Amino acid sequence: MTSFKQDVITGLAADAKYLSSRYFYDEIGDQIFQEIMAMPDYYLTRAEEEIFQLRKEDIFRALNFKTPFKLVELGAGDGLKTKILLRSFIEEKADFQYLPIDISSHVLDELAESLITELPQLEVIPMAMEYFEALEHLQNISNDPKLVLFLGSNIGNFPQGKAAGFLSSLAAKLQKGDKLLLGVDLKKEPAKILQAYSDQTGITARFNLNILARINRELGADFDLQNFEHYASYNPQSGECRSYLICRKAQEVHLEGVAQSIHFEEYESIHTEISKKYSPAELHRLAAETGFKVIEKFYDSKKQFSDVLLEKR
Ligand code: TRP
Repeated sequence: MTSFKQDVITGLAADAKYLSSRYFYDEIGDQIFQEIMAMPDYYLTRAEEEIFQLRKEDIFRALNFKTPFKLVELGAGDGLKTKILLRSFIEEKADFQYLPIDISSHVLDELAESLITELPQLEVIPMAMEYFEALEHLQNISNDPKLVLFLGSNIGNFPQGKAAGFLSSLAAKLQKGDKLLLGVDLKKEPAKILQAYSDQTGITARFNLNILARINRELGADFDLQNFEHYASYNPQSGECRSYLICRKAQEVHLEGVAQSIHFEEYESIHTEISKKYSPAELHRLAAETGFKVIEKFYDSKKQFSDVLLEKR
């Protein structure tokens, strides 16, 4: 059995049903996520872009790298924001190679191809691997200092308490003085956050529902998507914005080759995503407890988002 199928069965058999957000991103999911990033309500992308536009020189100066370095990106995606930094670092005559890491080789191929035309002078080494596998490999082949990019508030997508574990494991793969540029969405007016995760145009709903459509496509399930709706809620204390799929009508769902059907009661929900927001103070604590020190925090003009430059202690 594939791990996708196993994870789906485990999640849907739980008392409080859940599906892992890593399964949002098939080819269709990638496309819908591009649409999300283009929505005016989804301020995160524009805010991080603005930080890079306004502060790219300062970010480079704060790195304080005097020798050749490796620019490693975890979960590279389409690289639209990263290209702002890449272009600026090249203008600064920095001596570096760009190593985008992503589990999707499809995404990496497109990124690498676009860079050949847009930044032909840049040396790009795509790595289609899991993050830590790639970092371990890199540790074995090079002693150059590293700047690791983990952007787009991806750190917010870790389940309760797992972000610190991830950062500690990341720190263990770095050498003293290596840097991490961490993009984090900040706590703000709850209404603004909710709007980013439940837009009126229905793009977010389509994105969330695609996970069920994917289970239908790939695991031969018979989810009736009409019976499910997207719902987002924000807890201003934990900073967690959670997305759910709500089942409006009792139904049985079958998976190909699985004898037992999955029962849904009316208004039963599937939890699909956490997008945690941080305060600047929480970020400081998170860095301190995971082996990093804060070099500098960069903000957009409305202080909606922060890119924090951390250094491995
Ligand atoms: N990583 C994105 C985020 O947390 C993913 C995302 C955006 C998302 N909108 C969503 C996931 C709605 C589920 C539902 O911001």
